[in-house]
Amino acid sequence: MRIQTAIAVIALSCAPLLSARADDAAVARGKYLATIGGCQDCHTPGHFLGKPDMTRVLGGSEVGFDIPGLGTFYGPNLTPDKATGLGNWSDAQVVTALQTGVRPDGRVLAPSMPWRALAVMTKGDVTALVAYLRSLPPVDNKVPGPFGANETPTSFVMKITPPGAK
Ligand code: HEC
Repeated sequence: MRIQTAIAVIALSCAPLLSARADDAAVARGKYLATIGGCQDCHTPGHFLGKPDMTRVLGGSEVGFDIPGLGTFYGPNLTPDKATGLGNWSDAQVVTALQTGVRPDGRVLAPSMPWRALAVMTKGDVTALVAYLRSLPPVDNKVPGPFGANETPTSFVMKITPPGAK
């Protein structure tokens, strides 16, 4: 075998290995960003009840945010589950929601979701964050709501109440 051919064969056989390593690096970076970004707090079952269920990490919260005049919003399931998570969203749709607050159906996410802060993320970081979300085990969990300002939420709610309110 000529030396050039040998080098080409070695390079080709290493390519899948190298790209697998790049994927692993992106997922690890994404996990790091999700951890410091607090995504788990608002999107993991049990977190606000003092007992986060890390076997269903980012599987959706049962505690909603009451936004005065707007309604009550629960941190949705971010795992790749098709029926109840982000499984049917394209990567581009997830990035748009994270960085502009706009969901595929056109609704703008409630301000509890810190998309205005995430808008400053670099392309590399937001790509890594999405790679991490895609790597999660799918969790079958549809969060309640969202509920309009005049609707009655069916699960726990964090609420802002004026001083002296009962
Ligand atoms: C302070 C709580 C909070 C934090 C922190 C937070 N989110 Fe959210 N997020 C929410 C809530 C509440 C919603 C639902 C808002 C709505 O329906 O209008 C939401 C919605 C989303 C959506 C849209 C999903 C859908 O089905 O509509 C995505 C994607 C998302 N968050 C990803 C993230 C990621 C990734 C992070 C971490 C970088 C994060 N969120 C941090 C509360 C939070």
